[in-house]
Amino acid sequence: MTNVESPDVLSVEDLTMHYTTSAGMVKAVDGVSFSIKRGQSLGLVGESGCGKSSIAISLLKLLPDNANIIGGQVNLGGIDLVLLNEDEMRPLRWNRISMVFQAAMNSLDPVYRVGDQIIEALEVHERYTRDEALKRVEELFELVSLDPGFISRYPHEYSGA
Ligand SMILES: Nc1ncnc2c1ncn2[C@@H]1O[C@H](COP(=O)(O)OP(=O)(O)OP(=O)(O)O)[C@@H](O)[C@H]1O
Ligand SMILES: [Mg+2]
Repeated sequence: MTNVESPDVLSVEDLTMHYTTSAGMVKAVDGVSFSIKRGQSLGLVGESGCGKSSIAISLLKLLPDNANIIGGQVNLGGIDLVLLNEDEMRPLRWNRISMVFQAAMNSLDPVYRVGDQIIEALEVHERYTRDEALKRVEELFELVSLDPGFISRYPHEYSGA
């Protein structure tokens, strides 16, 4: 049940994003609005190409060069992300808003061990020391019931590759 009193964690208003292509303009996101309160989950469902990923990358402003947010607001805890530049966006990614990409193999670099990739993110974003980061990775693996032996494995050594 929705608590009407609790504020929205994320509120998207009339979001519009277009891609410019040699064949013309692709109106991938056209006036999309939704909001999410604390503890809520929201699923976007639709046929392939309807714009689900385009909405997600617009929220994080992880846009390819030919994509432009034409209008709308992405309100995250009182900040309109649409108005932020890359330097302002960077500290919010991972800390306040993040994305698990569709294909795990695209999210992880195949030539580095999985643990090292997570440790690097923790060192950069959380300013953990390497030892602190490793300890946190061990906790996170335990949390999702992954054998700690997988910390030092490469992405292709996991299932689903
Ligand atoms: N970089 C791009 N340049 C031009 N058009 C693009 C680009 N990326 C996506 N599109 C187009 O934008 C539209 C929305 O694509 P999007 O990938 O957001 O759909 P989707 O709902 O995530 O699909 P799927 O279920 O297949 O993941 C499609 O018409 C797609 O061809
Ligand atoms: Mg997609």
